[in-house]
Amino acid sequence: MTEIGNQADVPFKERYIDLHLHLDGALTVGVARKLADLQNIPLPADDESLEKLLTVQPDCADLNEFLARFLLPISLLQTPEALSEAVRLVSDEVKDQGVVYAELRFAPQSHTLGGMTQEDAVLAALNGLKKTELKANLILCCMRGVGNEAQNLETVELARKYLVEDGGVVAVDLAGAEALFPTADYKKLFEKVREYGIPFTFHAGEADGPESVRQAVEFGAGRIGHGVTIFQDPEVVRLVKDRGIVLEMCPTSNRQTHAVPDMADYPFMSYLGAGLKVTLNTDDPAIEGTTLADEYRYMERTFGLTAAQEKVLLANAIDAAFTTDAVKARLREMLL
Ligand code: ADE
Ligand code: ZN
Repeated sequence: MTEIGNQADVPFKERYIDLHLHLDGALTVGVARKLADLQNIPLPADDESLEKLLTVQPDCADLNEFLARFLLPISLLQTPEALSEAVRLVSDEVKDQGVVYAELRFAPQSHTLGGMTQEDAVLAALNGLKKTELKANLILCCMRGVGNEAQNLETVELARKYLVEDGGVVAVDLAGAEALFPTADYKKLFEKVREYGIPFTFHAGEADGPESVRQAVEFGAGRIGHGVTIFQDPEVVRLVKDRGIVLEMCPTSNRQTHAVPDMADYPFMSYLGAGLKVTLNTDDPAIEGTTLADEYRYMERTFGLTAAQEKVLLANAIDAAFTTDAVKARLREMLL
């Protein structure tokens, strides 16, 4: 297990936790070039053109268009070597940006185009995790979609097989196009997840309304990816508050996918003020052109997030992390 370094060189205010970080959304120009070189995959020679391909454009209409940006990163992650190296490179990069604990998520079924099985993909990612100095764990994403029920079940079986309390696969998730494939369709899948006792988080309330979050909570989710739209139904806000559900919020992603039509109405601060367990995360830093440090600065500048509130966000993240009490204690010592 990677010990958490003391990162004495990182100023206290610049130490973060990222609970919501997609591997395929974190391939920066530098990482993409290394992965392409490894596989002799041609990429545009100039960084500006490559960056344009890897990042979302300012006129992005919605989550569906945002998700189309993943085709290139996914195409670079189809061999065990590339996937393992991506986990190492992305983890090292976010560590250099001040992240002291991260939960890196990916969908094994998105990495089978070149002949890997989902299990090969999980093993490759675990291999990469061993090579980074970042303290990190893996979350396996099931995907919203049609005709992939068997693949999602396989992901859940793999999560069960490789589940550990820390230092590997620690949870599952549901990702993908929420507006196209409603949460209700995943009831059976998550009954299995619960039956197996696998911790899980769940993308909801991002491109669909509060009902999606209510269903995910009823499935047993203790953490929700985004949850932005719950303000539309005070009853769901109350449910989230009463059950202590943790919201993994990702402001730049939410702005780019138009989770709220106008960021002036972004409910992050009101959720925090109402005592909901909010955390601050990146989602897809390379696609969005952001880092977690950037997200903190954005929230400070735009919404007046204070240092005291930042401590609350970090405390929430530590409480909600899919890891052991010993790791949480160490994180509290470091960050609070
Ligand atoms: N996969 C990567 N980013 C995502 C997001 N914001 N919502 C759903 N699935 C995703
Ligand atoms: Zn996400």
